[in-house]
Amino acid sequence: MATSEDIQTLILTTLDTQGAIENTDSLKTADGNAIPYLAVVGVLNSLASKEMITYTTIERDQFNLTQEGNDIADSGSHEAKVFNAVDPVNGIAIAELAKLLGASAKIGQGKAFKNKWIKKDGDKLVREVESIVDQTQLDALEIRNTGTHSKPATLKDLQARKHVEKVKLISYKVAKGPKFSLKIEKQATDLTAEMLADGSWKTQTFKKYNFAGNPPEGGHLHPLMKVREEFRKIFFELGFEEMPTNKYVESSFWNFDALFQPQQHPARDAHDTFFLLDPATSSNFPDKEYVQRVKEVHSHGGYGSIGYGYDWKIEEAEKLLLRTHTTSVSSNMLYRLAQETKARGSFKPAKFFSIDRVYRNETVDATHLAEFHQVEGVIADKNLTLGDLIGFMEVFFEKMGVPNIKFKPAFNPYTEPSMEIFSWHPGLEKWVELGNSGMFRPEMLEAMGLDPDVRVIAWGLGLERPTMIKYGLDNIRELLGHKVDLDMIQSNPACRLDKKMGKELVGKDAVDA
Ligand code: PHE
Repeated sequence: MATSEDIQTLILTTLDTQGAIENTDSLKTADGNAIPYLAVVGVLNSLASKEMITYTTIERDQFNLTQEGNDIADSGSHEAKVFNAVDPVNGIAIAELAKLLGASAKIGQGKAFKNKWIKKDGDKLVREVESIVDQTQLDALEIRNTGTHSKPATLKDLQARKHVEKVKLISYKVAKGPKFSLKIEKQATDLTAEMLADGSWKTQTFKKYNFAGNPPEGGHLHPLMKVREEFRKIFFELGFEEMPTNKYVESSFWNFDALFQPQQHPARDAHDTFFLLDPATSSNFPDKEYVQRVKEVHSHGGYGSIGYGYDWKIEEAEKLLLRTHTTSVSSNMLYRLAQETKARGSFKPAKFFSIDRVYRNETVDATHLAEFHQVEGVIADKNLTLGDLIGFMEVFFEKMGVPNIKFKPAFNPYTEPSMEIFSWHPGLEKWVELGNSGMFRPEMLEAMGLDPDVRVIAWGLGLERPTMIKYGLDNIRELLGHKVDLDMIQSNPACRLDKKMGKELVGKDAVDA
């Protein structure tokens, strides 16, 4: 028996010497035997997966003798047996013939009569010719030797007589592949630490994956991410573009200074903000002129403002921190918008949103963590007014299933006017705060280089609160941190913000109301 290595070598050396293999049927082992079909397929597949060869299938019909057909080829047809049993001088008694030949007697007689080889003489059979040619045996032998017969009619006849059966034979035409070689390179099944260390991964060939595809059992979205998905969809439906929020560490410049938040503001204290120790600062700022304009507007004012009248210091702006709000990303994006406007020569309105993590140095309790998620939206267009902000907030919260919101004047260093957004909580029977909003100040926007008629409305809200309400959690530590129950994550349903869910957004009890 040829091993698959033997067959592999045979195929590769044949290809090497002959250039191609027209038909794998012609392959013979060293001892002259044909190679079993399955062994050939296995080797061809393995070589093809390494791109060492390519192959195409050749299909053809072959005719094989049945057990009966083989008997005929070996010892003659039934009719010939009958003829041979008839004594040339005395003939044979019909009863005797049956005893002698068994089943062949009956089948052979008819054919022998038809061929006019024998005739009946009383209760005896006698020969009509001196000798015969057993064509049926010759036909069977031809089929056995060649796998077919020169006369299609004969093949049909013998098939009908169940002496022959048709089988489909598959063989292959083989050519050299792009990575043809006489040597079979061993394909690695694993990428190992050694390969990475010594660089051998660069030249190593790897075995292709053929995973069976079992659906993984893990991979459940955390409830916060489920609610985030729903919020994202709302923003996308409203034509918003998602801001890149992957910068968790930000300079004080983008988190505070660009937002016209004075350097003495209490939020810029280590009691409220996590500052980085190593590296503690970054001077990777945009163009110097912009930084200069920020310094100017803080110190002396401009764009119709008198500023704060203090000595603005770059060192304070360089301090790195964990961003305290996603408005740090918005300020960065609005600066880019100003740059684009300058490059294009005309202003193009923009709608941005983000939903990501922010950090505050807070005392942790049942409703506060030192990190949480903010949902933030920004719309920039010419001549927007407070009316646009109010109108848009009504549309936005209505879409989240929260109708009838109210606004209360508020203060943010970077927006003027600013408004907190409230919704009636039927369970608590009071107005609860949902978010914060406002129109970015000219001190911020014009310093960036945006024209005075470009107005930017923006708002922010937390992601944890609506999620806790939606999933019935009353301690934030059940949602985030080491106390989270994995079962809570696996068993909670997908979040759908329908009308009912909207009521849940402002309070659990609202569902029954
Ligand atoms: N940054 C504010 C906060 O942290 C939210 C806000 C965003 C307010 C944009 C106004 C405009 O609460």
